[in-house]
Amino acid sequence: MENYKQFLVTLSSAGVVGVIAIIFVLRWVLYYQRGLAWDGGLAEFNWHPVLNVCGFIILQGLAIIVYRLPWSWKYSKLTMKFIHASLNLVAFIFAVVATVAVFDYHNAAKIPNMYSLHSWVGLAAVILYCLQLVLGVSLYLLPFAPMSWRAALMPVHVYSGLFIFTSVIAVALMGITEKLIFALTNPKYKDSPPEAIFVNVLGLLLVLYGGLILWIATRQSWKRPSDQTLHTLHSNGGGEDDTKVGPALSQLSDGAEGDSFGEVRRRNNKFDDQVN
Ligand code: HEM
Ligand code: HEM
Repeated sequence: MENYKQFLVTLSSAGVVGVIAIIFVLRWVLYYQRGLAWDGGLAEFNWHPVLNVCGFIILQGLAIIVYRLPWSWKYSKLTMKFIHASLNLVAFIFAVVATVAVFDYHNAAKIPNMYSLHSWVGLAAVILYCLQLVLGVSLYLLPFAPMSWRAALMPVHVYSGLFIFTSVIAVALMGITEKLIFALTNPKYKDSPPEAIFVNVLGLLLVLYGGLILWIATRQSWKRPSDQTLHTLHSNGGGEDDTKVGPALSQLSDGAEGDSFGEVRRRNNKFDDQVN
């Protein structure tokens, strides 16, 4: 892999920032707010930021970059598709439960639904994510879609995935700001109490996490090589079957992408989209 060290630094930074963001959102609701419960009250609302941050943002980010992990290249494309689809499915379930929690809380407290820009863009993101999931399974997991459709729609799949992910982070920032304005009354948000500073930092962490994931997902040289390329490398490296990659791949992961890999990759570049 080209720039393997840069990849490792970016990936570990995303991991560290993601874990800190999860700790921050949990500390916010458990320490500053009223904890977690399913009782129609504020503690039920708190599931909304917790599940959206942990599932819809951090887990979705992981799902997006899972193909890019060089350690996963020894697994077949089909296995990786199952992992990518499953992670996205779990993230979707988190988002749905988070949405049910806030609707339930609003209904119990007789607060109107869907009045804010946050809620409009947020619900649109959940619906688009569902559509992306259904189309992803129909096109790339089930064996019915012709190869030409798969190849033609892959750039759309990648673009819409990154678009939804970015929108969800924007939605979270709006939600955080709204909640701080509603919840902080004495002292107010504008007086910068410790909770306000703490949760503003959570927002910054989410922006940073999004930036790191987008960087990893948009480097052409960190893309999973086509199965064709992996197979050729494997044959050169002397392994046993076409779904596993042997010694040749471990050389890549050591950061010493051999000329042979670059050459094979260039030759097979045209296959990259077709195996999708
Ligand atoms: C409400 C989606 C994250 C705070 C809502 C509603 C939706 C939604 C659809 C409308 C519920 C209703 O009208 O009954 C999302 C999505 C998120 C997200 C997709 C993904 C990141 C957050 C975060 C916070 C938050 C991180 C921070 C606390 C709120 C608040 C409301 C709300 C305070 C009630 C006020 C309003 O309707 O705007 N959210 N949300 N949201 N959300 Fe979020
Ligand atoms: C690639 C997003 C669901 C199949 C990608 C990429 C993104 C993405 C951003 C680009 C990754 C990269 O360049 O390394 C999403 C989102 C989904 C979703 C947000 C759910 C809402 C699915 C499902 C499948 C699927 C259900 C079915 C198997 C693929 C395939 C690739 C891909 C085959 C190409 C990987 C490669 O270039 O090697 N997806 N995806 N996606 N996705 Fe999805």
